[in-house]
Amino acid sequence: MRASPETTTLTRAAGDPHTVTESLVIGGTRFIGRHLVEELRAHDHHVTICNRGTHDNPFADADDVDHVETDRTERRDLQAAKLAVEPDYVFDMVAYQPEEVETATEVFADVDGYVYVSSGASYAGEEIPKREGVTELRDCTPEQATDESGATYGNRKAEGDRVVARAAEEGVAACAVRPCIVYGPHDYTERLDYWIERVLTQDRVVVPGDGDNVWHRAYVESVASALRIVAESGRPGEAYNVGDRRLVTIREMVELIAEVAGTDVEVVGAGDRELSAAGLSTEEFVLYREYPHVLATAKLAALGWESTPLREAMARSVTAHRESDRDGSDHDPGRERRETVLDVLDTV
Ligand SMILES: NC(=O)c1ccc[n+]([C@@H]2O[C@H](COP(=O)([O-])OP(=O)(O)OC[C@H]3O[C@@H](n4cnc5c(N)ncnc54)[C@H](OP(=O)(O)O)[C@@H]3O)[C@@H](O)[C@H]2O)c1
Repeated sequence: MRASPETTTLTRAAGDPHTVTESLVIGGTRFIGRHLVEELRAHDHHVTICNRGTHDNPFADADDVDHVETDRTERRDLQAAKLAVEPDYVFDMVAYQPEEVETATEVFADVDGYVYVSSGASYAGEEIPKREGVTELRDCTPEQATDESGATYGNRKAEGDRVVARAAEEGVAACAVRPCIVYGPHDYTERLDYWIERVLTQDRVVVPGDGDNVWHRAYVESVASALRIVAESGRPGEAYNVGDRRLVTIREMVELIAEVAGTDVEVVGAGDRELSAAGLSTEEFVLYREYPHVLATAKLAALGWESTPLREAMARSVTAHRESDRDGSDHDPGRERRETVLDVLDTV
């Protein structure tokens, strides 16, 4: 972190001693972690990923990415990974309970940077924008702390943020990064895929409400660079929001998808009254949220972070969508219902 990065001298098989920065990624094989590994490799870190090995390892054939089998819920596994790697930086992609953050900050107490991947869901206060150290965080009861349901996700993430702050008071170089909704290649949630699929397959796309709704999103490569920069330059104990520097409404997002895909669509806004004719409501559309969710990103930008330009981020997301079998169909409120809404709007 702010203190100059420690480096480790390793003797590689080839014989020559190299001075390298050792990074350990807890997780690393699915979405954000996978992009983080690429980001670290591109910045000359030697990367080891540690996970259970239940998901395919996209770096299995890469000579420069090591793997240590680890269940992060087992302290001994984390200790073994630490001994094997002697990391300078640790990136914690899969801490969903505060106890996991506590264990990790103890095991990795002497690294140069421990970065906990938190979430914009940590914020309790509804204000625009949500700022680190200003906007109220969710509380977390002991029952919530060990819960595994989605309903307490934000509470548990917020408690992890507080664990990081307390660890820093004890001298641990720990920081938190709070991404809003992340999108881009390999996004297994398929939330943006739903909208890309609509644009690529339809002439008219129904958006909820008047289309002016804003839910801040973060392109995954910008999140990956934020994680690296915070590890290298963040101030221990601090949390850093990350989200696209430029925001678009849901209507602008659909129009941007069409623009980068080289197609034309008519964006049709439908309020709850029109949607109700098909038994739908605005809330059933993915990436829709009534009250705007916007994260301030100036604190991260002050560390030298830059956001991938929006057009580029969307173009890469659309290309990845076309090359994948992701269609976001799990989020689809139903083709017939969408068509009913369009019919209703045509008659008014
Ligand atoms: N996507 C979003 O919009 C968003 C927004 C805000 C915050 N976040 C945060 O981003 C993080 C998730 O990112 P990601 O899924 O893209 O990360 P990732 O690092 O690409 O993938 C998750 C990794 O965790 C490993 N894993 C799961 N359980 C494990 C365990 N018990 N021990 C060791 N490894 C384990 C998985 O491998 P194995 O299954 O093989 O172990 C996999 O490598 C979470 O902390 C989430 O709260 C996401």
